[in-house]
Amino acid sequence: LVIVLDFGGQYNQLVARRVRECNVYCEIYSYKTDIEKIKAMNPKGIILTGGPNSCYEPDSPTYTDELFKLGIPVLGLCYGAQLMSHVLGGKVERADVREYGKTEVIIDKRESKVFEGVSEKTICWMSHFDYISKIAPGFEISAHTADCPVAAAENEAEKLYAIQFHPEVLHTAEGTKMINNFVKNVCECVGDWKMDAFVENTIKEIREKVGDGRVLLALSGGVDSSVAAGLLSRAIGKQLTCVFVDHGLLRKDEGDEVEAVFGPKGQFDLNFIRVNAQERYYNKLAGVTEPEAKRKIIGEEFIRIFEEEAKKIGAVDFLAQGTIYPDVVESGLGGESAVIKSHHNVGGLPDYVDFKEIIEPLRDLFKDEVRKAGLELGLPEKLVFRQPFPGPGLGIRIIGEVTADKVRIVQDADAIYREEIANAGLDRTIGQYFAALTNMRSVGVMGDERTYDYAVALRAVNTVDFMTAEAAEIPYEVLNKVMSRIINEVRGVNRVFYDLTSKPPGTIEFE
Ligand code: XMP
Repeated sequence: LVIVLDFGGQYNQLVARRVRECNVYCEIYSYKTDIEKIKAMNPKGIILTGGPNSCYEPDSPTYTDELFKLGIPVLGLCYGAQLMSHVLGGKVERADVREYGKTEVIIDKRESKVFEGVSEKTICWMSHFDYISKIAPGFEISAHTADCPVAAAENEAEKLYAIQFHPEVLHTAEGTKMINNFVKNVCECVGDWKMDAFVENTIKEIREKVGDGRVLLALSGGVDSSVAAGLLSRAIGKQLTCVFVDHGLLRKDEGDEVEAVFGPKGQFDLNFIRVNAQERYYNKLAGVTEPEAKRKIIGEEFIRIFEEEAKKIGAVDFLAQGTIYPDVVESGLGGESAVIKSHHNVGGLPDYVDFKEIIEPLRDLFKDEVRKAGLELGLPEKLVFRQPFPGPGLGIRIIGEVTADKVRIVQDADAIYREEIANAGLDRTIGQYFAALTNMRSVGVMGDERTYDYAVALRAVNTVDFMTAEAAEIPYEVLNKVMSRIINEVRGVNRVFYDLTSKPPGTIEFE
């Protein structure tokens, strides 16, 4: 365990994230945490974060100097570095020149354990107005910049390291290396942390936070909300209510699969409410063909239904969300970019639900970590490795008007496609693949009879970030088999196309 002591900096989550990337478990605690509690946790290292204050001001957050005498390695970052120096007898002052942004740092002590393998001149992210003007006794300067005499200092014997810049930010070119060095070389962590510790700890944290309060979660059946539901259920059982809206635009049998896992016959203890809103959606969508209008209806209807259910339940203490770290990052980006599609997730924040606080147990995790947590919780692999599925569901895979019959066609065709992809052993190698229903009908012949039926389009893409994508090269025999099964087994289809378009110019979904 490495402890991150939070002094109010903006990058604290990132610090923890970087430590976990070294496969070392990490928890964040407030700087107000009692030293006895810290001792009891027996951490292998402690990291003090940045913060907005000046450590020499009387009311600023501080920590007893005992912390530095426990024999536990301590890394102070920015404010943490200044505080360490201040508490141990160095001097911190207001700088003439405020350093902000990417700054060249010169490593003076090349053999420093934290700078192992780091270039002599390296770009680091600075953000400070105070600086360490005098290092504490026993320390030596290990790095400097043009404006800052102490960019880093250390007392190797006592395992104390002060770094003025922010190695946790990716703008610091070799920052990850520095954190890895601290954790492995100085703290001597092995780096064999696994997800079970996260699951256990999160369950404990949820219990502490929720107490005997009630929690409401909109469960979509996707990976993130399912893992959140699993964690919350293990933590607080029936204090959790999950509302699962079956909008009739899910993949074949998916509603029942979600119910099998989270419903009364499943392995989790919670209140599960399934709202069968298929008809309601089909009625709302009748006659609507414009993609954005369809998306809007689907999203808004979800919110209405969720609100109706929430009203029946009454006031709750927490609204849980399956937000994961990339969502947090993404929501801060792209403000001015043009809206190509309104990427709302079914599961967006409803306006009129009566809750006090939001709880987001996966907020610090990346997708691969969420999947690991899901396996740890015993969720079925099928659910955990589910490919991404858009909130508006099949509504945007049926071109033109959505009807119950078209939903059936696309569900059946998609189920065959997925089955054959899995049979060919390709299901974990292709980024995303699905069948869509074009709005085109054409003439065909089947059993000597003329047909006038729909064409199904098969899509399969490989992608790193879903921003760009290439059509996947699926072996011809596989495609051929899928085609013949769809034509034979799905009533209402007489042609199958494979979409070769990359993104851009296409998008992954059809609408
Ligand atoms: P596009 O079609 O924009 O899709 O290339 C990129 C990725 O985003 C998914 N997607 C959505 N996900 N709500 C979602 O939750 C949406 O409205 C939505 N639209 C697209 C799509 O499945 C693909 O993974």
